[in-house]
Amino acid sequence: MARTRTVYRCGECGAEVAKWAGRCAACEAWNSLVEEVEQALAPGIPGGVPTAAGVPMPIAEVDTDAWSPLPSLVGELDRVLQGGLVPGSVTLLGGEPGIGKSTLLLQALAGLAGTGRRCLYVTAEESAQQVRMRAERLGTLPPNLLLVADTALPHVLEHVESVQPDVVAVDSIQAVYDPVLSSAPGSVAQVRHCAHHLVRASKQRAMASVLVGHVTKDGALAGPRVLEHLVDTVLSFDGERHHALRLLRATKHRFGSTDELGLFEMGGGGLQGVPDPSALFLADRRPGTPGSVVAPVLDGHRPLLVEVQALVTKSRLPTPRRSAQGLDSGRLALVLAVLEKRVGAAFHDADVHTVVAGGVKVVEPGADLALALALVSAGTGEPLRHDLVACGEVGLGGELRQVHQTARRLAEAARLGFRRAVVPASAPADAPGLEVLRAATLAEAVLLASS
Ligand code: TYD
Ligand code: MG
Repeated sequence: MARTRTVYRCGECGAEVAKWAGRCAACEAWNSLVEEVEQALAPGIPGGVPTAAGVPMPIAEVDTDAWSPLPSLVGELDRVLQGGLVPGSVTLLGGEPGIGKSTLLLQALAGLAGTGRRCLYVTAEESAQQVRMRAERLGTLPPNLLLVADTALPHVLEHVESVQPDVVAVDSIQAVYDPVLSSAPGSVAQVRHCAHHLVRASKQRAMASVLVGHVTKDGALAGPRVLEHLVDTVLSFDGERHHALRLLRATKHRFGSTDELGLFEMGGGGLQGVPDPSALFLADRRPGTPGSVVAPVLDGHRPLLVEVQALVTKSRLPTPRRSAQGLDSGRLALVLAVLEKRVGAAFHDADVHTVVAGGVKVVEPGADLALALALVSAGTGEPLRHDLVACGEVGLGGELRQVHQTARRLAEAARLGFRRAVVPASAPADAPGLEVLRAATLAEAVLLASS
């Protein structure tokens, strides 16, 4: 008879301990250990040791033809994956509920089915009817796309066996469970066990798999690092719920770089790629508004022009408000302190609101200078020229530091019709079509920008 045992497993890192504790000894997360009752299988590997899958051969003779990526025809997804889904690979698609994971998956499978690939969509959360209705809404019902609603892992593997698909998608991995384990669906043990079986099936059949995974509030994939180790590619899909913009990034990719950014807009007909994001971000900009400065930032390899806005009002609060949307609040505090100490612009009795318009998040320091200029302009009420961009990092001494790839950033600004750029004195680039104003310090930049 099979033995049962109780273990405590960390929900963060998957570590297993025999006794409960308030803190995981492996990853030091607090209150993350959950009780799991595991039924041990018969001793040894289920199904016995597999026979050797291949023979050692010279590296140059390893055949790679069957492993070239399959394009999904969803351009932005293929851009992030650098070609498409690789046969035999497993991709984890993570994102918050409602962000559009199922929509992206359905569009990708429809694209793959359209190019003659056999695709199997296993829906473990929604009914087959719901998925069909979504597919109708997206205007795509290809015959090569097979759909099944199931949650039990053995059934999923049976379906894979009978359909022999080129691509299988499981939506979501947290909803699939294996009855041989007594722990609840969605528990770390179940998620890891099910993912492991699907990874093995993918490798054996040279079938590309996509697993959908929900993320927890703090942005980690639920059942988190455990899954990230198992799969070849981890995609994260995010965006502001209230904006239509969605951003797709690879945080791990065994078949290429993780630098590419995919941009989509969620609309009535599903997700549409955004070929010219800078123009989209700047579409609603009103020239002549104080506190508005455009910054060319870089996301992966992609230069993006974003509008940094600041609003400065007299504060009636004992501790004035500081808000930073789409910006790092630490960078805002730093830029305010440098402005006060090195430029003589004081904001201590003012409420300061700053925003990156359009729902994008700027994490790099390249937007510091634009933020500083926007704050000064908002404080004085004097708008800056609307054809001006600014990029550079602000140092604590009030000095300006260059950021990487200034030339590409300025080229994007010139393409969108900007005529002047304020950059750090050390920045290497001159840009055709742009008057480049060089400043060694933030104080100089403030003077140059308002001249
Ligand atoms: P969904 O793909 O179900 O998200 P997830 O799988 O990540 O939970 O999409 C959820 C949202 O997308 C939902 O609120 C409706 C919206 N949506 C559109 O706006 N247009 C569309 O064409 C589709 C299919 C969905
Ligand atoms: Mg979904």
